[in-house]
Amino acid sequence: MNAAPREPLYQNRRCTLNLQDKSIATQAVHGGQDRPLPGAGRSWVPTSTPIYQTSSFMYDNAETMAAIFEGKIQGYVYGRFGTPTGDALQRAVALLEGGDIAVGFASGMAAVHAALLASGLSAGDTLLSAQDLYGATQSLFLQVLSRMGVHVHLLDVTDHAAVAQALATRRPKVLYVETMSNPLLKIADLPALARLAHDHGALFLVDSTFTSPYLVQPLRHGADMVIHSATKYLGGHGDVTGGVVVASAQWEAGLNSMARLVGGVLSPHDAWLIQRGIKTLPLRMQRQCQNAATIAQALMSHPLVARVIYPGLPGHPQHNLAERLFRDGLGGAMVSFELADGSRQRVLHFFNNLRLCIPATTLGDVYTLLLHPATSSHSYLTPEQRQAVGIGDGLVRLSAGIEDVADIIADLDQALRAL
Ligand SMILES: Cc1ncc(COP(=O)(O)O)c(C=O)c1O
Repeated sequence: MNAAPREPLYQNRRCTLNLQDKSIATQAVHGGQDRPLPGAGRSWVPTSTPIYQTSSFMYDNAETMAAIFEGKIQGYVYGRFGTPTGDALQRAVALLEGGDIAVGFASGMAAVHAALLASGLSAGDTLLSAQDLYGATQSLFLQVLSRMGVHVHLLDVTDHAAVAQALATRRPKVLYVETMSNPLLKIADLPALARLAHDHGALFLVDSTFTSPYLVQPLRHGADMVIHSATKYLGGHGDVTGGVVVASAQWEAGLNSMARLVGGVLSPHDAWLIQRGIKTLPLRMQRQCQNAATIAQALMSHPLVARVIYPGLPGHPQHNLAERLFRDGLGGAMVSFELADGSRQRVLHFFNNLRLCIPATTLGDVYTLLLHPATSSHSYLTPEQRQAVGIGDGLVRLSAGIEDVADIIADLDQALRAL
């Protein structure tokens, strides 16, 4: 059950606290908490939302349970239908994104799928999407949704003339983009794309995993739904898999229904871990963005690096857009770069030389993480297809962690020099 996130359930003395007008640092720490009222014979409440590790709930009488099932009163009946821990996380994320509601899922992919199903996308409809997508999202579109009769059309969403033309001719149900593309870190112009989509009667869905609500809040720029792989910056510690969709209240019933019927729901323990991660999201993002900017600068002057892609660098094609869209003009916490003479073997050798930074298939953690798109996230493309989209064998994607940046740069440098 989703309680309205606009009125956080502070079930203790601080129930008058209104978080809507607080800064994101305060919202991240206090958002969504569900502190159960003191029970019989006790006067205390936990300061942290408990993990309600239960698959069902019981009531004093059967009539109450029946009334909940009929939707006459709110309450919890069964884990797949919602838990207090899951609802606390949902309120926290909705608050951070400036949405009315959020619905949690077992992974980012489950969230992507549920958002599209809840949008009403059906057989015969067209899904217009950015071509620079997370690989599994692209496969979901091209292999699964296509098979179900959805027409999928991919294009470069930084080319607004092409987007306008495709919207006009293909009349899609949904325009789908990622705020920052992977691994080339192109930035989607959210306000412009939202306007274009809506002018042509399409819904605008945005995967904001790479930027997190700290950098940008797509709903404020016109998105109809925002999707996160909470496995990344929201969780932030590399210890949980989850996803969230945030939207206005009109989408609540549809999203909840997809969670319940398709069943990819978030467990109470994972919801709790993500909410715990969120408390430090602003701190982590500030540090990770600062570290990324310093790493990008260091790599720019490194003799063994041929090219650096970072939205915070003036040479990035969407540098001005990033400055305008992202909080405090930050450039994000992801850096991509190409090794000079970067054969596949040379990059793998470089990865093997790393001592502090971790080669792993994820991002957004407190650890600095590196990924080789050609042999992992984009290995499903042929070498020619990779070259065509600009992903060479020498390309490396780095997710800046919160370690001391001098240590990160020293590790990258020693791993490069040992080649
Ligand atoms: C942009 C983006 N969206 C969605 C996903 C899928 O998330 P998950 O791995 O939590 O299913 C990922 C995973 O890397 C991603 O990078």
